Amino acid sequence: MQHIHIASDHAGFDLKQALARHLTERGHEVVDDGPFTDESCDYPVMAHKLCRAVVREECLGILICGSGLGMSMAGNRHPDIRAALCTTELQASLARRHNDANVLCLGARIIGLELAVAIVAAFLGNGFEGGRHARRLSLLAPVAENR
Ligand code: RB5
Repeated sequence: MQHIHIASDHAGFDLKQALARHLTERGHEVVDDGPFTDESCDYPVMAHKLCRAVVREECLGILICGSGLGMSMAGNRHPDIRAALCTTELQASLARRHNDANVLCLGARIIGLELAVAIVAAFLGNGFEGGRHARRLSLLAPVAENR
């Protein structure tokens, strides 16, 4: 059983509802950060809300928009968030094992429910391997010279 935050925009709403139900039925403690209707909304607002909760509660999160791209861009603006957009189970597994990703991003217009369920299972079922991967993560510090 894991404590998981989940959020989407309007494009990811149906997939969010389905995944939240699926994870709850499997005994996970799911916090739905919204939205609570499929009315149009802005993905950065939802991403920032979820990411603040993930950092505060030191847990994992799932963000869903149409492509998954906007959510991953927004999530990765947070210094302590490593948001990984995944379209395969292998990516989701590696995102946890090698990148210590704490937010999984999904594109509801890219993948279907069955694949999304498998990707989420791979993400939740794997952990960070540390070692050389920890050194590489430490090198991900913001790059100042481009400003
Ligand atoms: C909404 O139409 C769409 O732009 C959004 O869900 C997402 O795909 C952005 O990256």
